[in-house]
Amino acid sequence: MAFVKFRGESVPLEMHKVRIVQKLNLLPVDERLGCVTAAGNNTFLLQNADVFLDMLTDSGVNAMSDRQQAAMMVADDSYAGSATYTRFDEKVREIFGTKYLLPVHQGRAAENILAQVFVKPGQIVPMNYHFTTTKAHITLNGGTVEEIYKDVALETSSEELFKGDLDTAKLEALIAKHGADKIAFVRLEAGTNLIGGQPISLANMHAVRKVCDKHGLLVVFDASLLADNLWFIKTREAAYKNASIRDITLEISGLMDITYFSARKLGCARGGGIAMRSEDLYKQMRALVPLYEGFLTYGGMSVREIEALTVGLDETMDEDMISQGPIFIDYMVRELAARGVPVITPPGGLGCHVNALKFLDHVPQSQYSGGALASALYIASGIRGMERGTLSEQRNPDGTEPMAQMELVRLALPRRVFTLSQVKYAIDRITWLYENRKIVGGLEWIEEPEILRFFYGTLRPIGDWQQRLVAKFKADFGESL
Ligand code: F0G
Repeated sequence: MAFVKFRGESVPLEMHKVRIVQKLNLLPVDERLGCVTAAGNNTFLLQNADVFLDMLTDSGVNAMSDRQQAAMMVADDSYAGSATYTRFDEKVREIFGTKYLLPVHQGRAAENILAQVFVKPGQIVPMNYHFTTTKAHITLNGGTVEEIYKDVALETSSEELFKGDLDTAKLEALIAKHGADKIAFVRLEAGTNLIGGQPISLANMHAVRKVCDKHGLLVVFDASLLADNLWFIKTREAAYKNASIRDITLEISGLMDITYFSARKLGCARGGGIAMRSEDLYKQMRALVPLYEGFLTYGGMSVREIEALTVGLDETMDEDMISQGPIFIDYMVRELAARGVPVITPPGGLGCHVNALKFLDHVPQSQYSGGALASALYIASGIRGMERGTLSEQRNPDGTEPMAQMELVRLALPRRVFTLSQVKYAIDRITWLYENRKIVGGLEWIEEPEILRFFYGTLRPIGDWQQRLVAKFKADFGESL
């Protein structure tokens, strides 16, 4: 168990040891400025060789276990009916209590199939919060997304333990207004990504199921961030204190008509899947798998990925494994908060989320304070985070620019990847940057792509704040990297 008592400082404890390592590179501060300039101040465009701690995402970069690596060596390579796929299918049935499985090459591929089959033009998909790829697929098929989170969801400093809960009163009101046949399905996302990896409670899932049963609506569950969410149910929801992770998982899945996941996150591998009990739902979606993904027994994944995923799903049922993300994030968030750095609280899953709007309250949001902070953090530390704010939004059709509801820099903690001293380094440099925040200014576009601009758009600093930041770094840290 992960709660080991210390007699002194209380720190998260690794319940694993490191057996394969990758060398890291920490460039001097002048070179970091050169790299971020060459990347157009867009952390997606940095070369990994120039990054010290890669906190861009947890997608496809969680550490694998020795058992996962070993399983990859015994993969059964055949187009149809491979034993590797049978093992995956059986593991999903065991863990989720489902009967049917459709394999896909990653999470958004599942979203493509779900949206094509279930979303008709003019229909609405209510959800606790959107994810970028989910929303894109729903709108592409003529649907609209309605976010019906609770009011507390967007409070950046809060004690609310389940900010990912869906507001069932708002769901009832939405159904009353539009009629149930206007609703394609209700989507619940575990560990709501874009509001800071905040969990949804099992009590809320029961409540949503009840409303949907009353109106004959499908419930679709995005389980990509389920691992963290399981841990939060176990540790934050009193009714489940003594329940096993396996029982909690079965209870969740029993409430859902369809459960899909990105295995780049859940299962610490690559790929994904769509699981369900109903043969009818299975048959409605089945034809799209060979069309877009690959045959029904690999779905675009390599057999080695499938083997690693099967073991990864099994290991997700282990409290020592799923605790590692949340307890490290908890440590990072609390230490930063204690130093006055504005971070999203309570700590969620996925990573530590810094509130750029508060951190850089002197930089207008229209000058992309989230993007500016991500750039400044790379200069100050070699750490790569991800802007999750206005840059990540799209312009309106008339060219005006919506300001994001939350202006964040996400510092993902891929599971079992970073050590405590590396997290302490991050805390130290972020705190230094906070103390020197007034030096940091905004960004403006060099090249702004029309679609998904955050992935490959380039920007420049407004003024010479980056040179001044480097000079202050050198004055304070001397020869230190
Ligand atoms: N759903 C959620 C909640 C996600 O976080 C992601 C991916 C997807 C679906 C799509 O899955 O990448 O396998 O196609 N999130 C990544 C991230 C990209 O960095 O947060 P995918």
